[in-house]
Amino acid sequence: MGPSGCGKTTFLKIVGGLIPASSGTIQINGRNVVEPHPDFGIAFQQANLMPWRTILNNVLFPMEILRRSGTAAACRARELLALVGLEGFEQYYPSQLSGGMQQRVALCRALIHKPKLLLMDEPFGALDELTRMEMQDLLLGIRAKTGATVMFVTHSISEAVYISDVVVVFSKRPAVIADFIPIDLPYPRSAEIRYSPEFTELEHRAGRALGITR
Ligand SMILES: Nc1ncnc2c1ncn2[C@@H]1O[C@H](COP(=O)(O)OP(=O)(O)OP(=O)(O)O)[C@@H](O)[C@H]1O
Ligand SMILES: [Mg+2]
Repeated sequence: MGPSGCGKTTFLKIVGGLIPASSGTIQINGRNVVEPHPDFGIAFQQANLMPWRTILNNVLFPMEILRRSGTAAACRARELLALVGLEGFEQYYPSQLSGGMQQRVALCRALIHKPKLLLMDEPFGALDELTRMEMQDLLLGIRAKTGATVMFVTHSISEAVYISDVVVVFSKRPAVIADFIPIDLPYPRSAEIRYSPEFTELEHRAGRALGITR
């Protein structure tokens, strides 16, 4: 988390190897990141689906790039779509789906090649509150199942606390780390936890780091 313009997207892009750092290096498992890696999956605020491709073929796109499309890939794409509640929409086109549904397709596309690191930039920002909470549970479920590491940018304090092992708060530009907040809430997380005193205390701490509360 961090104020608008502090460099969250920039940081995520550098971690993903999409842009170079002006100074310093990013290391993942002891290796410098210099370009996008097949073990990475990326999902941004806009679903960015290709309008001329069906839902199924949008999800399969990364596999084509990796030259791994085939029956097994198509099978996995169908499984993922079913997991996010989009069974039966495989042959639809993006314009025939709602914004929330498109975002779920984008999540499937980010997961199709089983990334070990998932980079997400406000992926649920455009969704209504209810869909957003469903997506958070979905993401936690997928993470539990796949063991992937997720780096997630959000402007929502409650979203950050609910889905995270640790919340890192950036200060205003030039950003430094304002706070590093371990979230010791138990898993599996469920909606009730949002109303617990521990949850509120963690939200409060993040709010303080962001300069919203004292
Ligand atoms: N550490 C930095 N040094 C120099 N320029 C930076 C730095 N961080 C961000 N910028 C520049 O600031 C601008 C905004 O950065 P960025 O898009 O990463 O912000 P953000 O935190 O994602 O904001 P938002 O919450 O609005 O999405 C960009 O033009 C970026 O190049
Ligand atoms: Mg941004």
